[in-house]
Amino acid sequence: MWDVENIQACGSCRTAGGELEISDELFSRFTGLIYSVAGIRLGPGKKILVTSRLMRRVKALELEGLTEYFHRVKEDEQELVEMLNCISTNTTNFFRENHHFEFLKGRVIPELLQSRKDERGIRIWSAGCSTGEEPYSIALTVCETLQGLRPHGFWDTKILATDISTKVLNAAAAGIYLLEQFPETVGEALLKKYFLKGNNGSSDSIRVKDNVKNLIRFRKLNLKEKTYPFKKTFDVIFCRNVMIYFDDDMKRHVLSMYHKHLADDGYLFLGHSESMVGQEKFRPVHITTYKKN
Ligand SMILES: C[S@@+](CC[C@H](N)C(=O)[O-])C[C@H]1O[C@@H](n2cnc3c(N)ncnc32)[C@H](O)[C@@H]1O
Repeated sequence: MWDVENIQACGSCRTAGGELEISDELFSRFTGLIYSVAGIRLGPGKKILVTSRLMRRVKALELEGLTEYFHRVKEDEQELVEMLNCISTNTTNFFRENHHFEFLKGRVIPELLQSRKDERGIRIWSAGCSTGEEPYSIALTVCETLQGLRPHGFWDTKILATDISTKVLNAAAAGIYLLEQFPETVGEALLKKYFLKGNNGSSDSIRVKDNVKNLIRFRKLNLKEKTYPFKKTFDVIFCRNVMIYFDDDMKRHVLSMYHKHLADDGYLFLGHSESMVGQEKFRPVHITTYKKN
């Protein structure tokens, strides 16, 4: 039920229950724009969530309301970036879905050490890397596995970590996390080896050491782009908990790009609830882990 007195000319209003709402028309203008720019499909069930996130920008810019904000976003490319920063869902964690890291360590890296012994290089891409926990978990896994499988000498490990959101990429590149974010199961030894404790006097933070950071390049990349700017293929692609926000057309596009940019014997890791659209391109080899057909 609408609280009629509370309806504002700005295109949003509050219901009698006090929840923030937005007119159907304005909601579909925003979601249409977000889909056309980022491929993120936001259905009517996301109305409250989208409205409250957009209202943060309305407040920050001291605008009258969402209608004015819509015009601003259409005219100002930087604000479009800010809108995507606040719309995207960035939930992540170190060693999330740990079975993938176990598989990387137990099967994928040992296999690559054989098949890439001439180039002595491993290329991994974390697509939709959010605030960096995923690519750092990959880096730690590679470092630990290579050390455990000595003598292997120097291997050139390159990890590319990309996201559409500049906000999360900045946080990822800084590599500073709350100590409580680091899973206890991973253990103190790994923490000591790859992180420094404290940041600017705050003892509840940890910082990724530079030797780990140096393995990773953080870059902005919108997966909606028609082409991706890579010359060489990747041995491993992680794209986990990203495609859940895409519709089938966008999933098909992204999967066909992964097919193109993955080495013939490479591995693709998806999130636990992500379906493989275009099954003929990939076959499952482990839990939500695929190889090219
Ligand atoms: C839920 S996080 C997943 C993080 C990590 N992969 C994990 O599984 O923990 C989803 C990330 O995908 C990014 N994303 C959403 N749409 C994107 C697009 N079109 N291009 C690139 N990244 C996108 C979001 O900004 C967000 O950081």
